[in-house]
Amino acid sequence: MKTLTSESLRDMYLKFFEEKGHAVISSASLIPENDPTVLFTTAGMHPLVPYLLGEKHPEGKRLTDVQKCVRTGDIDEVGDNAHLTFFEMLGNWSLGDYFKEDMIPWSYEFLTSEKYLGIDPESIAITCFAGDGDCPKDTESAKLWEMCGIPRERIFFLPKSGNWWGPAGSTGPCGPDTEMHIISDRGKAAAFIAKNTGDTVEEIPADAFLEIWNDVFMQYNKNAEGGYEPLVQRNVDTGMGLDRVLCILNGKESVFETDIFEKAKEEIEKLTGKVYGESEEVSRAYRVVLDHVRTATFMLGDVRGIVPSNTDQGYILRRVIRRAVRFGRALGLPQGSLSKIARTFVDKYEKVYTDIKVNEGKVYEELDKEEEKFSKTLQSGLKEFEKAAASLQGNRIDGETAFHLYDTYGFPVEITCEMARERNLEVDLEGYEKAFSEHQEKSRAGSEQKFACGLADHKLETTYLHTATHLLQAALREVCSPDICQKGSNITEERLRFDFNFPRKLTPEEVKAVEDLINQKIAEDIPVVMKEYPLEEAKALGFTGLFEDRYGAVVKTYSIGDFSREICGGPHAPSTGVLGTFRIQKQENVSAGVKRIKAVLIRE
Ligand code: ALA
Repeated sequence: MKTLTSESLRDMYLKFFEEKGHAVISSASLIPENDPTVLFTTAGMHPLVPYLLGEKHPEGKRLTDVQKCVRTGDIDEVGDNAHLTFFEMLGNWSLGDYFKEDMIPWSYEFLTSEKYLGIDPESIAITCFAGDGDCPKDTESAKLWEMCGIPRERIFFLPKSGNWWGPAGSTGPCGPDTEMHIISDRGKAAAFIAKNTGDTVEEIPADAFLEIWNDVFMQYNKNAEGGYEPLVQRNVDTGMGLDRVLCILNGKESVFETDIFEKAKEEIEKLTGKVYGESEEVSRAYRVVLDHVRTATFMLGDVRGIVPSNTDQGYILRRVIRRAVRFGRALGLPQGSLSKIARTFVDKYEKVYTDIKVNEGKVYEELDKEEEKFSKTLQSGLKEFEKAAASLQGNRIDGETAFHLYDTYGFPVEITCEMARERNLEVDLEGYEKAFSEHQEKSRAGSEQKFACGLADHKLETTYLHTATHLLQAALREVCSPDICQKGSNITEERLRFDFNFPRKLTPEEVKAVEDLINQKIAEDIPVVMKEYPLEEAKALGFTGLFEDRYGAVVKTYSIGDFSREICGGPHAPSTGVLGTFRIQKQENVSAGVKRIKAVLIRE
């Protein structure tokens, strides 16, 4: 095996698939658009869901990219050798084009060829789907692996719990997968391999096999009733976690020992005088700071960038930064360090993700601001916590105290829970929630779980609300200000939610004017027309949108007469006449310069 850097692995992967006829597309935003089910993009396939469901992608049927992803379900685990909240996923897609007959030999070639990863075929093991009532055993994939040269005894069959991927929410595209593993402990692996009969095994031991790549054969759509319907097309979706693969292939013990974190570690060393590896406690604090500052840098620097707040994505960002401050102080990082560490990540990634360079000023400023804010109360909050812990009768910190720590000292309750766990204590979370809702009429949505209710879909209701969102943006521009543009959008079956830059809420007269204008456009039954243009041409023609794509990329545009022109992936209603009646239900304040409108379509 060769020594790989993050840059060489990215380039190698994308070039390999480019040579196989794939268009290299840019990473989408970390903040999903029009998807109420999750707060962040969690896999490479996530921004491609509409295309996996059958929508036409402007760049064709073969795509490859490296996608920024955030998974925050395990924030508290970050600090060990393996957990990360941000990662990059290398991937390639067939949108109803090639299938396993091509994908498996390509995977084998990329893994083993000297031109690419050059992994010894003897150290590769494979898992395939074992079959159940929803989908048959994947003997086809196993045969294809055998034809590549992987002996039968190193191919295992696992049930849905092991070899099935998706949907990303509770509904959406999914299918059986085949996973590629590196044998990390030959002795243990040999004993396990000797017992392989080709029957189903529940799992393969994680201390002997390390997964490095996943090829998903997406042929099903999981519906709301939990059934699996065949998709209109057979897709391939693959995912290779860049940090993890770099770590495994370079024989490192931890994802924090790759080139990605080198400069950041040097910076922390300079700032604290402590060296990574000098003790487990120091290493753990290093890892928390490294991971969390990188994640915060990408969240703040994203094209759809967010800022710390008490709701949704902003709350997760706040939690990540504050946890970094807590561990950073324990390590001896002085105030103002986070932005210095962030700089090393901007330098490392600016060529791949240009938005973090464009937004670097905001990244440093917001990090400094949030660090300063939390630093002011951290010491007194810690004292308050110690006092409460010392005077405890049992082993449970009550909800009022946890709320007081949040409200007065800015401790996200998850941080209080973590501090409690470090002392074998618990927190009364129910009591906390009660205290919280008593004090705040508006409850925050701080966990991704709350959003796990179904993936962005192609239901008529959602599609029509999507078209209504375009009408809303155009109407706001006409009625309120031509400078208005979208700062966020989230659509469920029931309502649309649209965030836009505007210094104040709309007056009742403006609300009425916006509604009337939209309802007039609906009455005119204007066709919604999709056309593809190279990005630069679309911009020149006055189409608006978030310009995430690289120069030269072909983008989809949607026009509604001369009224609305947006760059957008769709889908949309065929014409405005089907929408019903548009009503604004609510206005909210997101921040000083950003307002939010919630609106519905009333249909007979
Ligand atoms: N979507 C698949 C994964 O994330 C490839 O592993």
